[in-house]
Amino acid sequence: MISRVYIFDTTLRDGEQSPGVSLSVEDKKEIAKALERLRVDVIEAGFPVASPGDFEGVKAIAETVRDVQVAALARANQKDIDVAWEAIRNATSPRIHTFIATSDIHLQYKLRKSREEVLQLAVEAVKYAKKYTPIVEFSAEDATRSDWDYLAEVVVAVIKAGAVTVNIPDTVGYTVPQEYYDLIKHLVEALKKADLYHLFEEGEVCFSVHCHNDLGLAVANSLSALLAGARQVECTINGIGERAGNAALEEIVMALKTRQDYFAKVLGKPLETRIDTRQIVPTSQLVSKLTGMMVQPNKAIVGANAFAHESGIHQHGVIMHRGTYEIMDPQEVGWTGSAIVLGKHSGRHAVRFKLESRGWKLSSEDLSRVFERFRKEVKDVLRSVADEYLEGVLLDEFLEGEYRYEVSAAYVSSLYGAPLKPLAQVEVIDRESGAKKAVDVGVGSIDAAFKAVAQALGYRFLGKEDRAPSSPLDLRLIDFHIDAVGKGTESLGVCGVVIEDQAGKRSAGLGKDYDIVAAGIKALVNALNRLEAYRSRGEELKKELAAKAGE
Ligand code: KIV
Ligand code: ZN
Repeated sequence: MISRVYIFDTTLRDGEQSPGVSLSVEDKKEIAKALERLRVDVIEAGFPVASPGDFEGVKAIAETVRDVQVAALARANQKDIDVAWEAIRNATSPRIHTFIATSDIHLQYKLRKSREEVLQLAVEAVKYAKKYTPIVEFSAEDATRSDWDYLAEVVVAVIKAGAVTVNIPDTVGYTVPQEYYDLIKHLVEALKKADLYHLFEEGEVCFSVHCHNDLGLAVANSLSALLAGARQVECTINGIGERAGNAALEEIVMALKTRQDYFAKVLGKPLETRIDTRQIVPTSQLVSKLTGMMVQPNKAIVGANAFAHESGIHQHGVIMHRGTYEIMDPQEVGWTGSAIVLGKHSGRHAVRFKLESRGWKLSSEDLSRVFERFRKEVKDVLRSVADEYLEGVLLDEFLEGEYRYEVSAAYVSSLYGAPLKPLAQVEVIDRESGAKKAVDVGVGSIDAAFKAVAQALGYRFLGKEDRAPSSPLDLRLIDFHIDAVGKGTESLGVCGVVIEDQAGKRSAGLGKDYDIVAAGIKALVNALNRLEAYRSRGEELKKELAAKAGE
């Protein structure tokens, strides 16, 4: 029995059938190139007969990628197969994937055909497709709800007709791991009885699995089928696909890699794919961007939180030894590394670790001061915060008395439906040069307020189109967010702002107020104060604190 597992990616066919997804030909080509870099074995590029757009997409992919097979889907009839072939004929290794349902419910209500008729159509379709290419795959749609003996009869017949891959789809995500295992074993037994087992054993004929996720079991079912002898898995990036989606490629591949020991123990040798796992995250992000299907943060392998740690105990463990709370190396799947995320659950270890990585060495007493203040500051913040907030808290703790700016008054208008722009008037105090006033307009009240504050203090916010910052007074707004703490219209607005100067120095500020524009102004002025404090005293303070820590 071979130990190589073939990864058949159907992101561009079953994945593209996800409700709301529609990819242009260019998008499809871009994803296909990413899948080629990922080193999948087969790209199912689409269902050419479905529409001229599908046909063009499959054809373009077949003519673009080289180091991967390209499959086209076709129902079990000559027209579908002819059109499929036209679309993939220029591929280096073209595969026709023909299918027909085998479950009684599909036969009775959808196909209105007898079992004998379906068996005959399946055999004829495989024979017809074989005239075009030796690589013919047959799928028994809704296999897991089909009568097992009838399914075995179809499987034996299509192999005799020339199918080299026989796919046993769990079309409606109905099966469970043990049952699916038993079904694959049942089919392997059928090959033995039909004297075809040698083809299977030598890898000339391969069982494939294609699991949908209606019960959240698509990956578990696929792995179970591999233990029973299947050697091709049909899956999609991020698990996208019809209804609840398909088995997620990244989960299958990483389960095989991470638990190689288990598969080797059960099967006598590990199961291997040819996937370049470092391409997993970039491919996932590309698919998410082009399909518009967001990846949930807690999604295994590719979710933003998959390697992020915010709670104190876990952060401590990961800082001491990554293996305490991580079973995979994030770099192995294409992340830059594990993320120690700062938030209200963070502990002292993470705070020390983050400060040290920015060059701050603190005595235990000073660390406690910063830690307590940080906890208080982020208490109301609903999300994790950027590392710059922690440094900002440290600067507040030691240099607040020296801060330069203060807003004494601000008046900001807000418009709805009027053909005017919101206006902001601000009065600020610069302790170095006295009181300043400014008036500005913006696309919204926050924009107007930020421009007026910047103008009064002599700064300039650069837009995306602007030239690179050239003066210490040029700033870019890197992040701006507002969270509501509490419920209803009387909630407290908590605003976070991250700015960056021309030297790439980032400074974060936080502002809280029941008026969200006021919260925004406080956050901006806080970020500016911290930036100026760092510029004038940051390096000196680092040395002072390090000297205390060394005592
Ligand atoms: O889910 C399914 O049965 C399919 C087949 C066409 C393979 O997508
Ligand atoms: Zn499917």
